[in-house]
Amino acid sequence: MKGLLISFEGTEGGGKSTQVARLAERLRAEGRRVRLVREPGGTPIGEEIRFTLKHSPHNGAMTAEAELLLMNASRAQLVREVIRPALAAGEVVICDRFYDSTVAYQGYGRGLDLGHVNAVIDFAVGETRPQLTLILQVPPAVSQARLAARQASLPVMRDRIEEADRSFFERVEKGYAALAEAEPERIKVIAAEAPEAAVAAAIWSAVAPWLPRTA
Ligand code: TMP
Repeated sequence: MKGLLISFEGTEGGGKSTQVARLAERLRAEGRRVRLVREPGGTPIGEEIRFTLKHSPHNGAMTAEAELLLMNASRAQLVREVIRPALAAGEVVICDRFYDSTVAYQGYGRGLDLGHVNAVIDFAVGETRPQLTLILQVPPAVSQARLAARQASLPVMRDRIEEADRSFFERVEKGYAALAEAEPERIKVIAAEAPEAAVAAAIWSAVAPWLPRTA
């Protein structure tokens, strides 16, 4: 593999999208070719699945099992249509969420069996795994406040997953903590309550060592 695959993770309201954009800008300024993708989504098929998962008027009845499979249907498409070709061409691929979200949200959050969750993920991604994963961590109160503000500003596009209750997000946090503990080489936890520039600097310190090893 010539390129570099980096994923960003964390509960809502951690400033992920802002930091993803900042990192992409900095890498491009250094002359790197960068591909930004988000999950669920990132391909035309994936964006349709994203709509079903988050905003469809029919999704109130969606089961946790269907949610797991749809997340991974979107992922299977993204990996083959976008990520693998980009990595083969030596690009830096930055994913705004990847499979750790599934372990945290569908595994820990929804309570699905982790063996099943990991089997589905394995099928969706195969050998395509991030070299580096950055979990942007904010205290639950900050995350909840930012989430509430976002919900209030989007009254028409209600978001099924963001509507989940507080205990769900606490379980998701536990999931991320367990992942970070299990894979300290790949997963770095970034304290994301700090000022934006300081968070960006911490992210750059984690990314920079990987750059000499990529095309
Ligand atoms: P976001 O793009 O605003 O982060 O929204 C994506 C939502 O989907 C977010 O609530 C997390 C959730 N999600 C899962 O539950 N499982 C997954 O595998 C992924 C990629 C996202």
